Amino acid sequence: MSEPGVVPAVARALRTFAAGRFDVERIRQDFPILRRQIRGCALTYLDNAATTQKPQAVLDALTNYYVSANANVHRGVHHLSEVATEAHEAARGKVRRFFNASSVKEIVFTRNSTEGINLVAQSFGRWRVQKGDEVLITAMEHHSNIVPWQLLCEERGAHLKVAPIDDSGALMLDEFEALLTPRTKLASVTHMSNALGTVNPIADIVARAHARGIPVLVDGSQAAYHMPVDVRALGCDFYVATGHKLYGPTGIGVLYGRESLLAEMPPFLGGGDMIRSVTFEKSTWNDLPYKFEAGTPDIAGAIGLGAAIDYIAQVGLQHVAEHERDLLDYGTALLGDIPGLRMIGTAKHKASILSFVLDGIHPHDIGTIVDQDGVAIRTGHHCAQPVMDRFCVPATARASLAMYNTRADLETLARAIRRVQAVFR
Ligand SMILES: Cc1ncc(COP(=O)(O)O)c(C=O)c1O
Repeated sequence: MSEPGVVPAVARALRTFAAGRFDVERIRQDFPILRRQIRGCALTYLDNAATTQKPQAVLDALTNYYVSANANVHRGVHHLSEVATEAHEAARGKVRRFFNASSVKEIVFTRNSTEGINLVAQSFGRWRVQKGDEVLITAMEHHSNIVPWQLLCEERGAHLKVAPIDDSGALMLDEFEALLTPRTKLASVTHMSNALGTVNPIADIVARAHARGIPVLVDGSQAAYHMPVDVRALGCDFYVATGHKLYGPTGIGVLYGRESLLAEMPPFLGGGDMIRSVTFEKSTWNDLPYKFEAGTPDIAGAIGLGAAIDYIAQVGLQHVAEHERDLLDYGTALLGDIPGLRMIGTAKHKASILSFVLDGIHPHDIGTIVDQDGVAIRTGHHCAQPVMDRFCVPATARASLAMYNTRADLETLARAIRRVQAVFR
């Protein structure tokens, strides 16, 4: 096995994208599930904000690992353990490059974004947040970036502050800034809203917080597969992402943390691999990033994520962003022509999400009926109940885009929505 995780499908992708041309039809061929029929119709997959489909390169990397390299990492002296460790650490290196972190010490593998945020809340939070202190979030956060802070604040006697959003779903930056006080110990902000599509001006937010010495965590769960992310250019202190939205497997996520902070933070989970030495009296901690990786990691998941990142890098996130921008504009115009449809989330800076409601029709009915045409969208509160409350709706229907979607997908969606309306007429 020359380089675990790098398999023929990636090599093919390399040739496909060598010319720098974005060819959506060619990309679609790399995703086997897109050939599926659903209820006799071609699958129109528009639930990417929930999870993306996986290219053959990722599927091959997972199989290849289990077929030819499966062993536990970091503690074996035998050949397979060395191969598995090398592949696992190679994946960490790919993640580092993908986010432009300074060092692999700053890349902690987690289960998902949710775990990354909980890690920071429990480790940084318990270390830095005291009674009467404040944590600042925004009104557009996913529950994953609300509840861990509620738990922390409740435990520490601290206050959770929430910066408002306007009627388009954009963050009210001046109000955000006004909520930064000498008691604010951390600001935790989404890069892109999963319910609205709003993209936040992270570099600006970080600059305003840092001017007051306040560290910033960025929830990159949505942004990381739609646009290039450079944690050094953004200047943030923590950035979390989740593998299954990055065209990778479930069960693997990433926490980027500034080395100087991670070095000072206490461990999150205790167990094997995160220690340097253990006696019944006292344990000492392993070097970064292993201090935060207790127990056997998701080795296959990390290797699969590495393959996904290779794949994304070959396509080029800049090309993906341009393609999805075209689709978002096209989809917004198509859905805008449907009488009785109201878009929720119309911020000037938004990406890849079409969240909407239809007069007199519950979103669950929309989702169920369009499914009859093979159209997969998400309906509900999208784990963002405060966003639903802000817009006075119980739920929305949400179509969300990925690199393999086409204008034809959006036309199919628009036809299916009109059929929903016909059913209720
Ligand atoms: C903005 C945002 N944050 C956090 C999450 C949580 O991701 P995960 O469930 O993979 O931890 C999601 C998932 O939908 C999300 O969209």
